[in-house]
Order: sequence, then structure tokens, then C-alpha cells
Amino acid sequence: MPLQATDKIWMDGELVAWQDAKVHILTHSLHYGCGVFEGIRAYATKQGPAVFRLTDHISRLFNSAKIYMIDVPFTPAQLVEATKETVRVNNIDACYIRPIVYLGYGEMGLNPLPCPVQVSIAVWPWGAYLGDEGIAKGVRMKISSWQRHDPNSMPPAAKGTGMYINSSMAKVEALKAGYDEAIMLSPQGYVSECTGENIFVVKGGRIITPPVSAGALQGITQDSVFAIARDEGIEVEVGNLLRSDLYTADEAFLSGTAAEVVPVQSVDDRIVGDGTPGPVTKRIQEIYFGAVRGELDRYKDWNEYVR
Ligand SMILES: Cc1ncc(COP(=O)(O)O)c(C=O)c1O
Repeated sequence: MPLQATDKIWMDGELVAWQDAKVHILTHSLHYGCGVFEGIRAYATKQGPAVFRLTDHISRLFNSAKIYMIDVPFTPAQLVEATKETVRVNNIDACYIRPIVYLGYGEMGLNPLPCPVQVSIAVWPWGAYLGDEGIAKGVRMKISSWQRHDPNSMPPAAKGTGMYINSSMAKVEALKAGYDEAIMLSPQGYVSECTGENIFVVKGGRIITPPVSAGALQGITQDSVFAIARDEGIEVEVGNLLRSDLYTADEAFLSGTAAEVVPVQSVDDRIVGDGTPGPVTKRIQEIYFGAVRGELDRYKDWNEYVR
């Protein structure tokens, strides 16, 4: 899916034309991968575009920055407002939103502390990340030969730019082998997460997803799934899973801002359930899509309107 340009990108407090949003080749983050970012979506609702759980995403951005000792030169409230402004000025109903905090031009070398901290927010239209068919029928997953980071080599709670090389390696391996997406295991051999999604299994009517200690990011979609499941009277557990738990699950699904809620059809060629989206997955998916589009009063606090 090639990038679809919009009008303006917010850079350090200014709205810059899309084609002029450039950085110097000696930008520190480009060389050493030290930056933090978020992936957010705005959805079309009856009251105009609503950014889904914007404040929670900006709060995670600041936590990621804290973990990497990056001092963001704006407040969370300023970045919430800047995000809304960027959606507004681009006159777009639904979009993906990418805030990034990065280290700019100034010094080189592995000490990031003297570098200027810069912030940018871009928005563009982005369809279903794992495809419309993936959302409707499910995706084929492969356990990667690449392990997820050990929490003492890369902190899984942070969304650090350089950390995603690990995800890209696993993604390429899975795609080249003919699968849709990869699942990574922790160095201890437990299921961790996918390249940009959390993973859940449904077993005996209960939903289970791996903990941060197994290398999983605390997804905001994951948190929304927890709330929806509990409201539906479905038990939720955060606990370690073995790869065989994936093979023998009644259902499995993925969650993430870009991917949304996606059923899993198979893992390593073992069909999960009967290979079609199961009842729990379908229910969660249906409520999630209702919530993001501002159709459900129960979850209205998650819709942050830009106008
Ligand atoms: C590695 C990884 N895990 C999980 C997720 C899901 O997180 P969220 O639901 O907050 O988008 C993402 C996406 O941000 C991710 O990159």
C-alpha cells in the first residue's frame, strides 16, 4: 500500500507542506534508531473524525520517551491538541496517525543525550493493515525463527523505533514463506506477540493473552478488548502461552491499532478451531468496530473528536 499524501505534517509546532517535511541525513535517530512513536487511528463518526483513545496513545508515547530518557519538548496536552489540529487541517474523515519523537541533527555518536529532541505528527489514509479479507476470514500465521527481545535488551513497554527491526525481520520471513503475519516467542520460549499486534487465544470461553514479561507491548487495542470482553461477561487472563496453546486453541485473534481485530485462521499450518472466525472473536470484533466509529454509548469516552 503506497503512502497516500495529505496536505500538512506537524513538525515541532509548525504545519509544513507534506513534500517539505524533511530531515537532514545526519539526523541522529536515522543512524541509531533512538526514537519513540505511536500508531493511532481516527475514524469517521456522525460527529466528524474521532481519534480513538488519543490521550492514552500520547500518554504511552511519553512513557516510551521516559524509558529511553528522551525529554519531549511539549506537554501531553499540547501533543493531543497538535494531533487533533493535524487531522483537522488535512480535512480527512478517517486516517492513520503517526506521532514520532526523534533525535535530530546536532551530534553523532552513541550518547543520545546532547541531541535535539524533535517531534512530528503525520496523518494519511490507511486501509485494513492485514487486508479486508484478513479481517473477514482470518490470517495465516507462522511462528518466527526470530525471537522477541529479551526485556533486558530492549524494553517491551516502550515503542522505540529501532526495536522494530526485530519485527521487520520476522515479517519478511513470514511473508516470504507464504504466510500473512509472524508470531514471535520470548527467549524463554513463551508466546510473545506479533510484529505489530498482540495475540489472544480463546479456550473454554476464556480469553488469554501473553504478559509484558513475555515481550508483549501493552496494546491500547488489547486494553479495549479486555474492557469489551469483561463487559460481555467473558473472562480475560494475562498469562504465558506455549506455541502448542495456539495450535489447540478454540479461537485466536490479533489486536492492534493498524490491524484492528483480526481472526487467526491457522498457526504453522494447524487450523485454529474450524478455520473460520469463532463466536468470541466475531463478537469482540463487532463491538470494537462499533466503538471506534462512535456508535456505542458505553465506550464514548474512547472517541476524542477533533472538532
Ligand atoms: C509490537 C506491537 N505489539 C502490539 C501492538 C498493538 O498495540 P496497540 O493496540 O496499542 O496499537 C503494536 C502496535 O502498536 C505493536 O507495534
